Amino acid sequence: MKDKILVIGANGQIGTALAPLLEQIYGEGNVIASDINNPVHYTGIFEHLDATKADNLAAVIKKHDITQIYHLAAILSARGEADPVWAWNINMQTLLNVLEASREFKLDKVFIPSSIAVFGPSSGKVMTQQNACLEPSTVYGVSKVAAENWCSYYHHKYDIDVRSLRYPGVISHQSMPGGGTTDYAVDIFHKAINGEKYTCYLKKDTALPMIYIDDALKATIELMEAPAETITVRTSYNLSGLSFTPEELYQSIKNIIPSFEIEYQPDFRQAIADSWPESIDDSVARHDWEWEPEFDLDRMCRDMFFYLAKQKDMAFQSVK
Ligand code: SER
Repeated sequence: MKDKILVIGANGQIGTALAPLLEQIYGEGNVIASDINNPVHYTGIFEHLDATKADNLAAVIKKHDITQIYHLAAILSARGEADPVWAWNINMQTLLNVLEASREFKLDKVFIPSSIAVFGPSSGKVMTQQNACLEPSTVYGVSKVAAENWCSYYHHKYDIDVRSLRYPGVISHQSMPGGGTTDYAVDIFHKAINGEKYTCYLKKDTALPMIYIDDALKATIELMEAPAETITVRTSYNLSGLSFTPEELYQSIKNIIPSFEIEYQPDFRQAIADSWPESIDDSVARHDWEWEPEFDLDRMCRDMFFYLAKQKDMAFQSVK
């Protein structure tokens, strides 16, 4: 049977970049983007979908004969802390609806993202291991630890081919992230290209695991296309792109925009960042499906400015 893919949360930071790529791979008409909000730029097939409603989800799956789901909708770390019970309910209800629908409609494959937010102070800070202790300090992290275990449960109990990655902070030019602790590393590019000073809500020396969108997409597709027998982790794979501090990112941006200025005013997000690892050991992903990232800090900065300048129609193209 032909692959028919449903992307849930397609207007989000990852979905905005992933849905068009899936269309390129699987063909126009075989990818259905969905979100609770209407799309801004997406031109492919789109369904309005509130994934907290199981019957709405079932109707979209039946209408399009869906065989695979990428479930990208979630309330992230910083936003979740403002209303933990609300964030938990949305993250868990949408997850359980997707897993139950996968069982009911016998879907071929399901992708459920996890996050570095599953880690906490007891996980170890440097090169945090695949099987590190998971005692997160945010409700987002708690919901992702639960999600990972639900994924494993549905795989082992119902033989659902669920696959998952623990994304680091994702840096992308296609859309703005929302509600995360790692969002500074996207916001900073927009300020820099607009000639504005950036006020960073983390301390200058706070190293966090990050990944450039091209690498995040590559990892997602490689994991989903890997033969099922190579997948040894059915909770979620550690994934590493690069790690840097706000000051290191600032210096790399300054190489391209020498007049750029930054100041530091840490807020409540500092405590969240402090609870997360600085770097991630992703050797299991490297072993199982030959994962290898391509972007270092300077290359990522050049690429970001190339695409942001293009969006603004600025004569910046020479930086790539
Ligand atoms: N980017 C996420 C956040 O900051 C982490 O996965 O919440």
